[in-house]
Amino acid sequence: MKTDIFKAIDLNKPEIKEHIKKQILDNQLIVFPTETVYGIGANALSPEAVKKIFLIKGRPSDNPLIVHLNDASQVTKYVKNISIYAKPLMDAFWPGPLTLVFESSGVFSDIVTGGLQTIAIRVPSHPVAQKVIAYSGVPICAPSANISGKPSSTLFSHVKEDFYGKVSTIIDGGKAEIGLESTVLDLSVEIPTILRPGKITQTMIEEILKINIINHSEQIVEGAPKSPGMKYKHYAPKGEVSLIDGSFDNVIKYINSQEIVQKNYKIAVLCPDEYVKHLHLKTIINLGSIESPEAIGENLFMSLRQMDEMKIDYIYIPVISQKGLGQAIMNRLLKAANYRIIKV
Ligand code: TXA
Ligand code: MG
Repeated sequence: MKTDIFKAIDLNKPEIKEHIKKQILDNQLIVFPTETVYGIGANALSPEAVKKIFLIKGRPSDNPLIVHLNDASQVTKYVKNISIYAKPLMDAFWPGPLTLVFESSGVFSDIVTGGLQTIAIRVPSHPVAQKVIAYSGVPICAPSANISGKPSSTLFSHVKEDFYGKVSTIIDGGKAEIGLESTVLDLSVEIPTILRPGKITQTMIEEILKINIINHSEQIVEGAPKSPGMKYKHYAPKGEVSLIDGSFDNVIKYINSQEIVQKNYKIAVLCPDEYVKHLHLKTIINLGSIESPEAIGENLFMSLRQMDEMKIDYIYIPVISQKGLGQAIMNRLLKAANYRIIKV
């Protein structure tokens, strides 16, 4: 298929505006940047268009999609029994990297919801995402723009690699600012429950709601993941990822002891800046300072994708603090490592 590529700055041109609207209403897919990661979007009201997303991504059909809207006022059309917690959260965090799960009013097909009675909705803040939704005039469902199982896309080069020739349009918006997908918060249950951690943290949500919420996202608890049985392999590079958990010195000692493996295999370390000068392996990728989880979040998927480009066989990553954004980072790393943690 012919893929048209546009730059974000061209989106104000009337002919491109018209093109986007036409493609979406014609059941075509458009890849576009959001503030979290790139998304692959389709008309959420068209089962035919939505089916294409699952087909092209190779996504399991029971994994539901997030519907993206322009603003909170449209939510009532699509949901019922709206939680009392919804409004304060929308006021505080929309537009932005928070997805809310509601009871569905049944407008969207089972293909969007994966057969669930609930629907996930997000209002993205990225101007390109906002424009794609506005020009189309319909709700846009958009999973992360990556082939299923691969790390999400944070750069134009990632989406080009995965989707050029497979979708009608790709919009180049440069680097996705946050680099980690939105926080998913379930509001269809009595106590709001985090299903996927992201930039909007548990603490930030609790500060707004003035209650304790539940956090169901996978995390390391005393060296073991809380819910080890993950259904799908995620974010995984082709090489084997190991998370190294221990004191700063022990982690360095362990990673350096892998030097010998370099004789027969390509190995790499992805680590915070603070570790770099202590490590002796050939390939060390600096994720950014421990003091700046924002930087680590921004670089994470890009670095995981780099592992495949460099054909790395074994990848070592120190466990980092799960405070604040660290929880979202460790959640993605646990999945990338298929829960392989080496205690040192
Ligand atoms: O930041 C993001 O959320 C990005 C950008 C493109 O907006 N999108 C994204 O979509 O990450 P996706 O499909 O890769 O991840 C959606 C997550 C999945 O874990 C899915 O299972 C969950 O949201 N989800 C969707 N609908 C749900 C529902 N009704 N109940 C519970 N979880 C749901
Ligand atoms: Mg995804």
